[in-house]
Amino acid sequence: MNARLHLDDPTLLEGLATRVDAARRLLREIADDFSPAAFACSLGAEDMVLTDLIVRDQLAIDIFSLDTGRLPLETYDLIAEVKKHYGLALRLYYPRHDLVETWTRENGINAFYESVDLRKGCCFVRKVEPLQRALAGHKAWITGLRASQAATREGLPTRSFDASNGGLEKFNPLADWSEREVWAYLKQHAVPYNALHDKFYPSIGCAPCTRPITPGEDVRAGRWWWENPQSKECGLHSKRA
Ligand code: ADX
Ligand code: SF4
Repeated sequence: MNARLHLDDPTLLEGLATRVDAARRLLREIADDFSPAAFACSLGAEDMVLTDLIVRDQLAIDIFSLDTGRLPLETYDLIAEVKKHYGLALRLYYPRHDLVETWTRENGINAFYESVDLRKGCCFVRKVEPLQRALAGHKAWITGLRASQAATREGLPTRSFDASNGGLEKFNPLADWSEREVWAYLKQHAVPYNALHDKFYPSIGCAPCTRPITPGEDVRAGRWWWENPQSKECGLHSKRA
């Protein structure tokens, strides 16, 4: 995914330096003024930038991941790699077993392919409910969302109030970063990243709901590829926040 990126483009590097300064300032402000704050780390490329920044500056920000139980093997490998590289044991949140058991009994193990409602139901049980538990008691949360990732993310602010997850501030420090800047950062700092990114997976979620894209396709085209682009959010990020 990043093989063609050269770090000798002065415009790219200047722009990146400015963005990195702004993101570091914002992360420090969140750690200082919104404690306890939590970073939801999906282990995607953007989230590896944020992980690196938070660890590098030793910021007091909780870092957690939602293990849906259906992540690709490569994502689990990266969780292990993060432990080795940074000495950081990500806090993992799991779905409630009773909710998963009921959902699969009533709908079927792969029922998310059958309708948007069933897909959102699975995302609720495996991601949204655990997210709400992970965020409980926090004053702010941080994500790796970027505005240019999808039609559903256009105009994404750096900061907003998230009323849908119990009422707390939500920060997207990379909101205005480009995909190139993300990869330039990862390369510049030799940050570990998901092996699937080198196999045409720019955006990675659960294994059964993610596939590689072909050249020219939108970066999120491989996520829930059977759905309309306007419905492609899992419920972690409501339009209001
Ligand atoms: S999403 O539709 O799955 O939410 P995406 O993969 O683009 O989209 O993730 C956007 C942001 O949501 C990530 O940067 C991260 O902050 C949060 N997120 C998504 N999946 C997870 C996960 N499994 N664990 C923790 N955070 C996640
Ligand atoms: Fe379920 Fe797919 Fe959503 Fe994962 S991405 S929680 S498998 S519907």
